[in-house]
Amino acid sequence: MTAGAVALITGGASGIGAATARRLAGEGWRVVIADVDAARGAGVADDCGGLFIHTDVTSLHDNEHAVAQSVRAHGRLDAVVLNAAIAGRCGLDDFTQQHYRETMRTDLDGIVYGLHAALPRLRRQRSGHIVVTGSLAGLTGSPDVFYATAKHALIGLVRSAAPHLARDGIRLNIVCPGLVDTPVLARARTAILAHGLLLADPGEIAAAVQSVLGDRRTGRAWVVQAGRPAVPVEFPEIPLATR
Ligand SMILES: NC(=O)c1ccc[n+]([C@@H]2O[C@H](COP(=O)([O-])OP(=O)(O)OC[C@H]3O[C@@H](n4cnc5c(N)ncnc54)[C@H](O)[C@@H]3O)[C@@H](O)[C@H]2O)c1
Repeated sequence: MTAGAVALITGGASGIGAATARRLAGEGWRVVIADVDAARGAGVADDCGGLFIHTDVTSLHDNEHAVAQSVRAHGRLDAVVLNAAIAGRCGLDDFTQQHYRETMRTDLDGIVYGLHAALPRLRRQRSGHIVVTGSLAGLTGSPDVFYATAKHALIGLVRSAAPHLARDGIRLNIVCPGLVDTPVLARARTAILAHGLLLADPGEIAAAVQSVLGDRRTGRAWVVQAGRPAVPVEFPEIPLATR
């Protein structure tokens, strides 16, 4: 990717998004942080010499605004990292419609809206790369049932949309991290380590995002775990039934 390329990163105020912003800025990218957390988002943007745009990804309008502001500031948009998400707000046993909708609004609608907002610009350019942050939970399942449900849906979104977008010169991939040492896991951290599970550093996921951005393939789900490089998942070939 040429120096001066522009990346818009949702959820860039913290954890994996902030690490990705710092990594790409270090490689000469111009980064735009889109997040609901104005204080931390502006801080990361300052560190990266980037721009912060207050964005709630659950709003299509906010996503469109973030894309418009990125293009207004820099005149181009090369990569969009759709990364903002929350842990599930309820499970099967403490289900409420409100908490279920909050989870889906952020973790699924927020990505769909980010994709939809970026497409007109990327289609006009006939280039660009969208990288979604999924999760290993979107491939294997998780006790956080509705978080995992949303992350599974994102795999379907990427696999289904990528062939269409390839006709417009746009790549779409999803990075699926295992456990990562970020604020979202703070409360479970001690128990995770006590089980002997490895936590990746957010910088490892940022490195994976960077390597996926540099890969020519599209429609892939890339698993990223602590101490290992990103590897694309091999989904089974299931031919349609014929007479
Ligand atoms: N930490 C892990 O173990 C792990 C594992 C797999 C996948 N992930 C995924 O990585 C991504 C980043 O998570 P993280 O671990 O860095 O968590 P994090 O909590 O450190 O960062 C999430 C960021 O998203 C922002 N955000 C939340 N709701 C938003 C909204 N409505 N609009 C805009 N911004 C919003 C938060 O303010 C925060 O800055 C998420 O998609 C998460 O599901 C994390």
